[in-house]
Amino acid sequence: MSQYPALRLRRSRASAWSRRLHAETVLTPADLIWPVFVTDGEDEEPIAALPGVSRWGLKGIVDRAREARDLGIPCLALFPNTPHALRTEDGREALNPDNLMCRAIRAIKDAVPEVGVLTDVALDPYTSHGHDGIVDAAGYVLNDETSAVLTEQALVQAQAGADIVAPSDMMDGRVGQIRSALEANGHVNVQIMAYAAKYASAFYGPFRDAVGSRGLLKGDKKTYQMDPANAEEALREVALDLAEGADSVMVKPGLPYLDIVTRVKSAFEVPVFAYQVSGEYAMIEAAAAVGAGDREALVLETLMAFKRAGCSGVLTYHAPLAARLLGA
Ligand code: PBG
Repeated sequence: MSQYPALRLRRSRASAWSRRLHAETVLTPADLIWPVFVTDGEDEEPIAALPGVSRWGLKGIVDRAREARDLGIPCLALFPNTPHALRTEDGREALNPDNLMCRAIRAIKDAVPEVGVLTDVALDPYTSHGHDGIVDAAGYVLNDETSAVLTEQALVQAQAGADIVAPSDMMDGRVGQIRSALEANGHVNVQIMAYAAKYASAFYGPFRDAVGSRGLLKGDKKTYQMDPANAEEALREVALDLAEGADSVMVKPGLPYLDIVTRVKSAFEVPVFAYQVSGEYAMIEAAAAVGAGDREALVLETLMAFKRAGCSGVLTYHAPLAARLLGA
C-alpha cells in the first residue's frame, strides 16, 4: 500500500538547512588518523605511486604533527622506510630502541605531545625479504617466533612513547602477548588497535613502494593475511583479538570491505576503525586526475561511507585534505 502523497521522502531533502538537520552521520577531523611515512634520507621524498604523499625526515614529521594538531586530526600513524642496509633476514632493526621509528616517536612526543602516535607492529619495513615476520627455509612465516619478536617490538615502541601500538601482522596470539608485556612493564595506558581483519589485498602496492619493501617481497602474504572471500572468519579474528585485550579493532582495506565493518560493529559493539589503504588513495587520485570525478567530493563521500558503515574513525592519506575541507 502506498502512503504517497502523504509521505514524500523528498520533502526533507528540499533545502540545504533541512538536509543538514536530517543528516544521520557526521564526519569531523576528529574521525581521522593520518598515516605518515618517515625517512632517514632527504627531508621530503615524494612517493611516485602516491601522488601528493611524501616520506618525511624527523623535522618534517614533527611539522606534520603540528599540522595535524592545527587541523584537529587526533592521531598520526607512523611507518618507517628503514634504510636498506639495516634490513636483515630477522628484521632485528625493529628492536633497536634508537631506530627510525623510535626517533620519530620521541621527536613528535617531545614537540607536540597532544597529538596521538600510533605505531605499526610488524617486521616488513625491517626484513630483507619484505615479510611481516620470521621466515623458515621454505619462506613460511613462523607464527610463534614472530609473535615473540613483535611483542618486543611493541615494547620498544611503547618505551619510546607510542600511544597506540597496532599489530598489522596477522599472527595468531600476538595481541595477548603484547598486552601482557605492556602490563608487566607499566604501560597500562598504551592502547592496542589490532589489525584484526586484514586481507591479503592487491590494494597495498603503493604502500610497499613507500616503505621500500615492494622489490624485496618474496611471494605473497596469503598464509597470514585473510582471503578476500571470507567474512565469518573476520568475526572470529575480531573475537580473538578482543578476548586477548585489543582496545579497538581495524578492518583493512577499507571501501571494498565495508560489509565487514558493519558486521563487526553489529556483532561486537566495540570501536571499529578502517584503513583506507594506499591503493584506494591512488584510485581516487587517478580518477580525479582524468576528470572522472571531483577529488574533494570523492574524498568526503568515501570517508562519510566509513562512518555510516559503523567506523569510529578512518586511517586515510587524505586526512589533511579532508580536515581542511571539513573546516577544522
Ligand atoms: C604491513 C602493512 C601494510 C600496510 C600497512 N601495514 C602492507 C602489507 O600488509 O603488505 C598497507 C597500508 C596501505 O596500503 O596503505 N605490515
